[in-house]
Amino acid sequence: MEKKIRLLAIESSCDDTAAAVVENGRTVLSSVVSSQIERHVIFGGVVPEVASRLHAESISHVVAQALEQAQLSCSELDGIAVTAAPGLIGSLLVGVGFAKGLSRSAGLPLVPVHHLRSHIAANYIAHPDLEPPFLCLVVSGGHSHIVEVLDYTTLRVVGRTRDDAAGEAFDKTARSIGLPYPGGVYLDKLANDGDPKAYTFSKPQVSGCPYDFSFSGLKTNVINTVHNMEQKGEPVPAADIAASVRRCVVDILTRKFMLAADDLGYRRLALAGGVSANSELRSRMAALCKKSGRELFVPPLSLCGDNAAMVGAQGYYEFSAGRIAGLDLNASAAMEIDAEF
Ligand code: KG4
Ligand code: ZN
Repeated sequence: MEKKIRLLAIESSCDDTAAAVVENGRTVLSSVVSSQIERHVIFGGVVPEVASRLHAESISHVVAQALEQAQLSCSELDGIAVTAAPGLIGSLLVGVGFAKGLSRSAGLPLVPVHHLRSHIAANYIAHPDLEPPFLCLVVSGGHSHIVEVLDYTTLRVVGRTRDDAAGEAFDKTARSIGLPYPGGVYLDKLANDGDPKAYTFSKPQVSGCPYDFSFSGLKTNVINTVHNMEQKGEPVPAADIAASVRRCVVDILTRKFMLAADDLGYRRLALAGGVSANSELRSRMAALCKKSGRELFVPPLSLCGDNAAMVGAQGYYEFSAGRIAGLDLNASAAMEIDAEF
């Protein structure tokens, strides 16, 4: 019988303190997420120093809860997976420092995990039959990538944003129409009540790589449109703006992603990251894949945002590939998805 590998996983790259226990990369035995959003909302965004302090406050409790819910002690684990890059450095260091201490005291191997790889791995939990190779659109608050997942630990970026991430475009435009942080989810809801053809916002031409994105022009275009209305004392039709922004961002993402899928010959596609929760992105991709006879894998909404279950999933494959770190492991704010720790 195949040995069961159980990893404790820790995630603290941004504003969620999370821990989970995952078996063989696919079965979640427990998953605890403690969100800090309430503490950042008054600032309209994540305040890095506040985030680090809040991680330090809650990490012991969150890890204890994850072990308790899985009804396991450290001696029954096979390793500790931890998000070590990329993200807010102070936040990452809390998770990495905690994982190193526990690894040392419990005598367990330490498995560093790249945050975007773990977002992709959320799909392994939800879709037991999904195996590489496939092409993945990874869209979060900080990144927008088109990634070839060649095997579980060999990934290649074929397209990326030149400036803002898709999530950032959603959050900043949502803020301009008065929605609270993090605006993406609120904008998505409000957009359902608006006319997506009310406004035509700029879709940038990116020279060079045809799969690269750019969202900063769109962001500025939307913010200026709203400011102009406010200056003239006109009412701001927030739902129409939300619907038009959502349509524009989804147009850009789907067009580039499908182009890459066509050119590179992928029949299996996946979505990952916080923005993969977007209802229009999900429905548009489902329709495009159905039409072109492709398979589409999307994480359930519960696994789109930051969580540690996805870290345990990717951690299993990193562990199986022998990617164990020493106790000199450091966190990194910026690291490519195909780099090694
Ligand atoms: O992956 P994630 O939780 O954190 C990072 O790694 O950045 O992504 C967070 C991003 C935020 O920008 C948030 O507004 C966006 O995901 N987001 C959405 C939706 N839900 C979350 N954007 C658009 N539509 C949504 N439904
Ligand atoms: Zn994330």
